[in-house]
Amino acid sequence: MNTDNGIHVIPATPYIGADVHNVDLARVVDVTDVATIEALRLALDEHLVLRLRGQHLSASQMERFGAYFGGFVSLKRPEQRDALHIPGLQFVKCISNGVTADGRPVGDGSAKPQDWHTDGAMKPRPATYSHFYARVVPADPPRTYWMNMYRVYDSLPAQWREEIQDLWVIHHQYSAGNEFPLPPSLPLAKRMEGPRHPLVRRHPTSGRPLLYLPHRDDAIVVGRDEAASRQLLARLRDFAARSPYWWSAAMELDDFVIWDNRACLHRRDGWDPARERTLWHLANEGEVPVPYYAASELDVKQAS
Ligand SMILES: [Fe+2]
Repeated sequence: MNTDNGIHVIPATPYIGADVHNVDLARVVDVTDVATIEALRLALDEHLVLRLRGQHLSASQMERFGAYFGGFVSLKRPEQRDALHIPGLQFVKCISNGVTADGRPVGDGSAKPQDWHTDGAMKPRPATYSHFYARVVPADPPRTYWMNMYRVYDSLPAQWREEIQDLWVIHHQYSAGNEFPLPPSLPLAKRMEGPRHPLVRRHPTSGRPLLYLPHRDDAIVVGRDEAASRQLLARLRDFAARSPYWWSAAMELDDFVIWDNRACLHRRDGWDPARERTLWHLANEGEVPVPYYAASELDVKQAS
């Protein structure tokens, strides 16, 4: 896609992901280039994940760019709120396995591989967009994978779609609960705590249904017991993981990646923990997830 303002968007796969050329995000922020920001937003709606290479942004410019995509959610853990990873900025967070010269962690994170998840799902308003900017990258950098959950939902057997259309899932909090090797389940009482999100979610922009999965098979489906919940969620997560609607990329130095966190699951490979990888991260606060209802059912609900 070429736009009037020179942006060049090249799809990475037929399903998800695109490389964006001819955009200097620092300039976009400094001159308030609203047309380019709108073009990026439209490209995100279509491709779900955008990669812009060779960017040169300060953390402040990154935060100002992110503000065009909505308010922010702080994903810093409480003990990190005053961390000096990036002085003066409340929302840009360092994701890193590195250690400073005086032995402090550079940021929050490890080099372990992660299973499929969405960011902030344990919050009542999960993140809408996730922004990552690669600042230190190891040789042979790990790949991140994104799955188009519109496509996954559309490809479910019709009987499965009917089975899950009215179901809700409790998204329990489990820090590092999706890092391999996957740690054991939390006690059932802990897994009963957390926001309830619809399993089939209506995307607020497109209006289309998507499969909104929890980050572990052991989450609890509202109204189902532990065994039945696990059976269903393991079946759905396995179906998603085997789906062909994904893209992967290994973030290189100065790569900037944005994705629609509502519409795709993501996972990440691990790497040699002796090698530092540091990314700056920003997340926009989202809306309360809304269930998708078939149009005929919505008509009935609105009429009643
Ligand atoms: Fe994530």
